[in-house]
Amino acid sequence: MKTSFGIDVGGSGIKGAVVNLDTGEFVGDRIKISTPKPATPEAVASTVAEIVEQAGWEGPVGITLPSIVKGQMVLSAANVDKSWIGVDAYELFHRHLGSDRHISVLNDADAAGLAEVAFGDTKAKEGPVIFLTIGTGIGSALLLDGKLWPNAELGHLIVGDDEAEHQASSAVKEDKDLSFKKWAKHVNRVLHEYEALFNPNLFIIGGGISRRFEKWGPHLTIKTEVVPAHLRNKAGIIGAAMAVTRDIAP
Ligand code: BGC
Repeated sequence: MKTSFGIDVGGSGIKGAVVNLDTGEFVGDRIKISTPKPATPEAVASTVAEIVEQAGWEGPVGITLPSIVKGQMVLSAANVDKSWIGVDAYELFHRHLGSDRHISVLNDADAAGLAEVAFGDTKAKEGPVIFLTIGTGIGSALLLDGKLWPNAELGHLIVGDDEAEHQASSAVKEDKDLSFKKWAKHVNRVLHEYEALFNPNLFIIGGGISRRFEKWGPHLTIKTEVVPAHLRNKAGIIGAAMAVTRDIAP
């Protein structure tokens, strides 16, 4: 069995697990530690190191961040501490995890999208597909025949007069206490825009809210098929673990 370790850094929790790379299943328990506040690079990296240590893992580690990550440099910080911008993720995590450890850092939605391609819906590999993860923000992975266009940031596309993620994230639903039906209208508006601009064959929606898809999915009126993700909240960890062994990080 080929295994690797994946860590998904989110706004409320940092989660890690050993992943069986043949099946996408976790081996043993997932470890979760609350995201430190403020979630500065040093604080997050030491939490990541704590998770790896708790797991007793000595092999390669893949890490997702809710940011643009290009050439292992962090270039954005929409919903995390602004001090992440300009951080050399390689240097940071090598310092905390050991300089001879194999590590790879990539965007959270890119990781989840690639995991979905490998272990989720077979349709994720067919033609142009947009994978979205809806949570505090809206993350996106643009896929073509299962290959990734990295660091697409569709959550920040202006739809009407505001960014998509300011209208249709699940944080907006919570903050404004919107019903599923009302919130679905916001998602619908955003998906209409994505559909008009990119014309994918399929939208796959991940993130916690995809678990309640039956509550809001039926209210969508776009022509393109929309399905909930298969891997739910495991996708980021699985994608991170895959990235470090396959060297698929951008
Ligand atoms: C960030 C993306 C991230 C998404 C989901 C957005 O605000 O800009 O990089 O993938 O949130 O976490």
